[in-house]
Amino acid sequence: MRAALFFQTADAPARLPALFGGSPPVIATSPPIYWPVGTFESLSGKIDRRELVCGVMGLGYVGLPLAVEMGRAGLRVLGFEVSERVAALVNAGESHIKDVKGADVASLRRSGKLEATTDMSRLGECDVISVCVPTPLGKTKDPDMSYIVAATEAIVERLRPGQIVVLESTTYPGTTRELMLPRFESNGLQVGKDFFLCFSPERVDPGNPKWHTRNTPKVLGGVTAQCTELGGRVYKLFIDHVVEVTSPEAAELAKLLENTFRMINIGLVNEMAMICDRLGVDVWEVIEAAATKPFGYMKFTPGPGLGGHCIPLDPHYLAWKMRTLHYKTRMIELAGEINTEMPAFWVGKLQDALNDAGKPLKGSKVLVLGVAYKKDIDDLRESPALEILDLLTNKGVVVSYHDPYVPEIVADGHTPPGAVGVSVPFTDAALNAADAVMVVTDHSSIDYDRVCRHAHLVIDTRNACARHEAAHPERAVIAHA
Ligand SMILES: NC(=O)c1ccc[n+]([C@@H]2O[C@H](COP(=O)([O-])OP(=O)(O)OC[C@H]3O[C@@H](n4cnc5c(N)ncnc54)[C@H](O)[C@@H]3O)[C@@H](O)[C@H]2O)c1
Repeated sequence: MRAALFFQTADAPARLPALFGGSPPVIATSPPIYWPVGTFESLSGKIDRRELVCGVMGLGYVGLPLAVEMGRAGLRVLGFEVSERVAALVNAGESHIKDVKGADVASLRRSGKLEATTDMSRLGECDVISVCVPTPLGKTKDPDMSYIVAATEAIVERLRPGQIVVLESTTYPGTTRELMLPRFESNGLQVGKDFFLCFSPERVDPGNPKWHTRNTPKVLGGVTAQCTELGGRVYKLFIDHVVEVTSPEAAELAKLLENTFRMINIGLVNEMAMICDRLGVDVWEVIEAAATKPFGYMKFTPGPGLGGHCIPLDPHYLAWKMRTLHYKTRMIELAGEINTEMPAFWVGKLQDALNDAGKPLKGSKVLVLGVAYKKDIDDLRESPALEILDLLTNKGVVVSYHDPYVPEIVADGHTPPGAVGVSVPFTDAALNAADAVMVVTDHSSIDYDRVCRHAHLVIDTRNACARHEAAHPERAVIAHA
């Protein structure tokens, strides 16, 4: 079905040669004048006039900041959620995402620019639909595409000529063209003419004070040149720099390259930590020295393992896709193995240090500091702290934790049972009562001098105590592997 939209504008006659590539067709001119135009031209006009209604599917870590940027740019935004709770919160002018200020959501609610709904039938109201739904991995590390499929099917039911759909969820190369496109075209609409389909990966870095949704350059690739052009023009309304590539596959792979690069380099530096441990060399000193090279080196730091929704998971999307093509992604597998070993490696360091102090691991009291997957955020997803807590509990350690951003670790079917608990207050007494304090996440608000002053033994997986340990030579701080 070819879209035949009609619109009425004052400048329609003047625009005709451009629209039809030559002389205007003969069309009845008695008012009102309706000029037949394609969906491309119609959308083009809406973009120029900023008259778009933007839909965002999934108002989580990615979708809510995106919706807020769209609203701030003066566009009307409809947020689609399957969670009644999230939709209600947004409609109440509140934010459940730490990086998004409640005041910003409230202000957009007041101005009528932002509304959240669980009613998917309203997808038809949107000119642009950005899909920001989860892409987890299954137990066997295969991609779980059920959220993208559900979102796609919800759109298919209401897909109408003149809509742009942009997938933002991180996924394997080919998802946009192989999984979404056939479903969209199944109702007779044609991509690049009737509707427009792109992939544009989100690069949000939770807790980053400098780079936000708006000022982080955004890659975008459409299924056709028209898709890329329209998608790019829309996104330029609320993103400072849009980097257009020629296909969704290039955009999908760009995202996977970025995160695989990070995962492999973290694997390398974690291996360097284990190498230094065997050699009795301080890995942090080695890293700082290497980082003085002004070219050809990029600093990565070791730690307790990989965390977050992206770095530990995304490379597996690529590995899975390549397995279907009988190719083994060797570097991904190896870096994954090393990173996965890190929680057990640090528990081993703790055990050795307690042993040196004449204490068995079993029955010792250990206070874990920081459980979010990285500093200054409240996100627990894939946090290596969960595995460390579980390993310690299973070895008979009396474990407690403190995290200013995570008051409770709840049993939700995914969390390892030994990690479940409630954050204890950060006090001199708590530090002193523990046989060892293990710094797993180096939140900036923690006073590490106080940690070094009161703890008997510190296992510092992040080198957070580096500046303070010298002042307390009576305390044992194991900062390097
Ligand atoms: N969190 C990050 O830092 C980050 C960074 C870059 C990319 N990504 C990618 O972005 C995507 C979204 O991640 P996130 O962290 O925002 O996830 P999230 O879990 O924070 O949010 C996803 C939201 O989508 C909602 N949802 C699920 N199915 C839906 C549907 N069919 N229709 C409407 N809403 C639906 C959920 O209720 C949830 O609120 C993932 O693919 C992720 O890999 C995340």
